[in-house]
Amino acid sequence: MKPVNVGICGLGTVGAGTLNVLTRNAGEIARRAGRGINVAQIALRSKHPKCDIEGIATTDDVFVLAHNPQIDIVVELIGGVDTARELVLAAIDQGKHVVTANKALIAVHGNEIFERAREKGVIVAFEAAVAGGIPIIKAIREGLAGNRIHWLAGIINGTGNFILTAMQQQGKSFAEALLEAQQLGYAEADPRFDVEGIDAAHKLTILASIAFGIPLQFDKVYTEGIGQITRADVNYAEALGYRIKHLGIARSGADGIELRVHPTLIPDERLLADVDGVMNAVMVSGDAVGQALFCGAGAGMDATASAVVADLVDVVRALTTDPENRVPHLAFQPEALSDHPV
Ligand code: HSE
Repeated sequence: MKPVNVGICGLGTVGAGTLNVLTRNAGEIARRAGRGINVAQIALRSKHPKCDIEGIATTDDVFVLAHNPQIDIVVELIGGVDTARELVLAAIDQGKHVVTANKALIAVHGNEIFERAREKGVIVAFEAAVAGGIPIIKAIREGLAGNRIHWLAGIINGTGNFILTAMQQQGKSFAEALLEAQQLGYAEADPRFDVEGIDAAHKLTILASIAFGIPLQFDKVYTEGIGQITRADVNYAEALGYRIKHLGIARSGADGIELRVHPTLIPDERLLADVDGVMNAVMVSGDAVGQALFCGAGAGMDATASAVVADLVDVVRALTTDPENRVPHLAFQPEALSDHPV
C-alpha cells in the first residue's frame, strides 16, 4: 500500500524529534499504522535543524504545506496561536487531517477548529499538546470512556516541575534551574508561559474538556504560577514533610466544574510528591476505575515526538479501509519471539 504523505510545519525541538523518531522507528511505525509514513515536505526557518533533512523538499512558508495536494496530513509544530490557527484552518479547508502539539492553540481556538474539522470530515489530533509523552488524552478519552470522572489532578508542566525539583534537591536558584530547563529544550519560547502557569492552564483546559465533555474554556481557569516560590519555601516544606508541586486540578462538584492551577503542598508519602524533574503525572478519579495514575516525561524532544507520531499512526489507521489493517495488534512479527526464556 502507498505510504501516507505528511508535511511537517516547524522544525524546532519537537519537529526535529518527530522526524528523528519517524526515521529511526520507520519499520515499527509502518507495521502498527498498516502503511508507511513518508515526510513529503517540511516548512522550516532554522538553517541548522537538529535532524537530517537530506532528500526532503523544504520551504520557509508553512502555508505551502496546507495547499500541497500531495500531502494528506499536516503536522503543526510552529507553536504560537495566530499563524498556527490560520495554518490549521487552511489545512482543514483543503481536506487535510491535522496533528498538532500546540496546547495554546487547542485551548484557545479548539472549539472553532474542531467545528471546522467536523464540517470538513477531517481529524484533528493533539495528544502531544498535554503531558509530553504520556498518552493521557487517549487514556481519558478511550481507556476511561466508561467512567464518570470525578476529578483529575496532575503535574502538567515539565519546566515548572524541573525548576521546583532542582531547587529542592540540588539547591539551585530559580533562575539557574530555569536556564537549564531552557537549554534542555523543555521551556516554552516565552518561559513566562511555564513560570506563570499559563501552559499548565492550557493543558488543564484540554484535559477537562475531554474528561467532562465540556467546551474548551481557557478563561475559566484560576491560574497561579511558581514565580514567587523561593528556596526557603521549598526547604520549609521539606522540613515539615511536604513537597511543593505545581498542580492543575479539575473537579466536578455540586456547583459545576472547577478548574485551577497553583502551587500545592503534597505530603511526602503521596505518589505525586515523588514525581521529579521533567516528569509529569496525572491522577484521574473515575466512578468505575477508582484512581489511576499516569506518569512519564512531560517535555523534551523525543518524549513529545512520541506523542506526535502516535497521533500520526492513529490518523493513518483511521484512513485505512483495509479490514486487516484495522486490527493493528495483529501485526505480529513471529520471528521476533525467542524460544527460550532469557
Ligand atoms: N514547556 C512545556 C513544559 C513543554 O515544560 O511542560 C511541554 O508541553
